[in-house]
Amino acid sequence: MRRAVGAILLALLASPPARAEIPAREAFQLHCSGCHGPDGHGAAEFVPDLHELAPLVAAPGGREYLVRVPGVAQAPVESEALARLLNFVLTEMSGVDDLDAFDAAEVEALRRRPFLDPVGARPVPR
Ligand code: HEC
Repeated sequence: MRRAVGAILLALLASPPARAEIPAREAFQLHCSGCHGPDGHGAAEFVPDLHELAPLVAAPGGREYLVRVPGVAQAPVESEALARLLNFVLTEMSGVDDLDAFDAAEVEALRRRPFLDPVGARPVPR
């Protein structure tokens, strides 16, 4: 019995499971839609519409804001998946067609410092 358990543990160690890569659209449904809604339109004055982010991308401090806002910074996904998710939201929902895409390194550095006052930190008035 003990030997069998050992063999199973060794097999698990030898072949770590492939990291599940879920498509950004599905990651959005899992991690964002609960507040922003399934289509990302948010809820009136309480949760912002993710179809209107283009002015933020262009504003000074806008890229930083988009990653440090708590719902993004603290999403339970790795930085690479989070970069893909953010790129999806910006291109597919907000229609930003000239996006300088986020990558894992930029997201990783910024998300370590989530805003405590995201509303006050927004670089352009909503
Ligand atoms: C628990 C609810 C909640 C979740 C989950 C959530 N958000 Fe948010 N999000 C908000 C609220 C509320 C704001 C407004 C700023 C604040 O209070 O944090 C916001 C702000 C934002 C903003 C800035 C929009 C603007 O116009 O200022 C972006 C971008 C954003 N969220 C994207 C996402 C993404 C992408 C996810 C999924 C990874 C996500 N959010 C998950 C509630 C949420």
